[in-house]
Amino acid sequence: MNGEMVRDTFDFVVVGGGLAGSAAAYWLSQLGDVALVAKTPPEGSNSHHAQGGLAAAVGAGDTPEVHAEDTLAAGAGLCHPEAVTRLTARAPEVVRWLLALGVRFDAGADGQPLLGLEGAHRRRRILHAGGDATGRHILAAVRQALSACPNVHRVPGRVARLSVDAAGRVTGVVVAAQARDRLASQRETDAQDTHAQEADEASDSLRAGRRRLHARFATVLATGGAGQLFARSTNPPGACGEGLALAYLAGAPLRNLEFVQFHPTALATGAGPCFLLTEALRGAGARLRDERGEPLLANHPLGDLATRDVVARSVFAALSEGRRAYLDCSGVENLPARFPSVYAHCRAIGLDPVHDPLPVTPAAHFLMGGVAAALSGETGIPGLYAIGEVAHTGCHGANRLASNSLLECLVMARELYEHWRDRLNTAGARRSLALPAEDAKDPPRELAADDSAALAAVQTLLWQHAGVVRGEQGLRQARRALGELAEVYPDSAAVCVARAIVEAAWFRRESRGAHFRADCPLPDPALAGVDTVIQPSAQGPQVSWSTETLPSPGQPLVHA
Ligand code: SIN
Repeated sequence: MNGEMVRDTFDFVVVGGGLAGSAAAYWLSQLGDVALVAKTPPEGSNSHHAQGGLAAAVGAGDTPEVHAEDTLAAGAGLCHPEAVTRLTARAPEVVRWLLALGVRFDAGADGQPLLGLEGAHRRRRILHAGGDATGRHILAAVRQALSACPNVHRVPGRVARLSVDAAGRVTGVVVAAQARDRLASQRETDAQDTHAQEADEASDSLRAGRRRLHARFATVLATGGAGQLFARSTNPPGACGEGLALAYLAGAPLRNLEFVQFHPTALATGAGPCFLLTEALRGAGARLRDERGEPLLANHPLGDLATRDVVARSVFAALSEGRRAYLDCSGVENLPARFPSVYAHCRAIGLDPVHDPLPVTPAAHFLMGGVAAALSGETGIPGLYAIGEVAHTGCHGANRLASNSLLECLVMARELYEHWRDRLNTAGARRSLALPAEDAKDPPRELAADDSAALAAVQTLLWQHAGVVRGEQGLRQARRALGELAEVYPDSAAVCVARAIVEAAWFRRESRGAHFRADCPLPDPALAGVDTVIQPSAQGPQVSWSTETLPSPGQPLVHA
């Protein structure tokens, strides 16, 4: 890492310091210089908190084809099969790369990885590291590799808008000044990091005001999901959908935002983000029961390991009927050693997970929809790429298969790198592909920092009306209330994305995967393979249907 002042022009600008952004910055740095912009330290990312592991067909009797079949089955008719085939085919290679980086996956006495089971997987194929701290271990290894890359420049800060030129191309980002307290806490986290000096220099210049970062080749959104828009969520603060709003305001279509995955077993205690009780606990023998000890999933052929949407609705139904829902972990062998994070958290709040049934609630966990993108991150908007949870690639369909998301972050980062490696491989490409550093005359609006009152209103509205079970009437109320909020908070990313989620949920009059509408509880066969697409218009978000597998503008509105 050199000590020079952060420059304004880079080959690549990557936004988001979780697993997708960090891996992308690592690989892209082999092709040019990279600005890595992040509003929180890596510990603030969803990837860092991921307990569940990485799915890969590396065990005896498993193949990428079976992994793909399970992914497609969980996706309930909305996966894009080519994307799934590629995702699962590349999983063993991702595992090899992580091993080479030094990730120590949990292994048995014979040195072979211990492969776990999670909902809707027909084979044991989940790799874990540190028991239930897989995301932390993988992210730490990638960050360690990144810290040795001399041409990655860290820029702490919040992106207020994408720069769009007169031809509609995205040419970089505008980073807003960051509050002093946030910078101070980021500095503390950075203390061990070889990038710290450069981050400090960037901070000094950021305090002075906005900073424009021009991306010669690509601006990459890797900003994660939007779980924090719901009153109950397993996501850390900050997962408020800013990347979705940035892309949307720059003209990129968003797809399938109605598909929000609710994790069935978030610990129902305390305020703030709900602590996750990983699905791997059920893979290891934990069972969901009501207050009388009756199993909640007794009638389902896959029992507690049914797909996540099914299990989340069972827990939600029990709670809605005034019953309680508990995760009984007494059947999990050696829980303290196998699930150290769960054990430590429960003990710290006075619960003994070995003996006490743990109260659970569903909580927003993962967004299957996102910025329409190919696996390489291409969005259809020249210059703009989206990878990881912020993207919709069709890999997850209507319900993501457990432990496919860390995998998707790494596969997409690699595909993005290969896309640019191939493009830059021809003579003169560096000059002919470089985008000029112009901004359009009328730049898209800037997003304000999260307003706590707006966020609280959004969280309540989405949890009540666009949560585990939705219906026409509630969605109509939410549309109206969000339309009013948008007038008060026109620059709020939370309000912008919440509106898009509600519009899509209202538009899709069927139940499929994680999108369950009590007023139309069955899937509509005509909507299998049909995505929703949302784009901005003067009248607010406009929804249409699309059967295209690659990003393209939506087709005309077919019903309203
Ligand atoms: C979990 O550990 O249950 C979550 C894993 C995932 O979301 O894939």
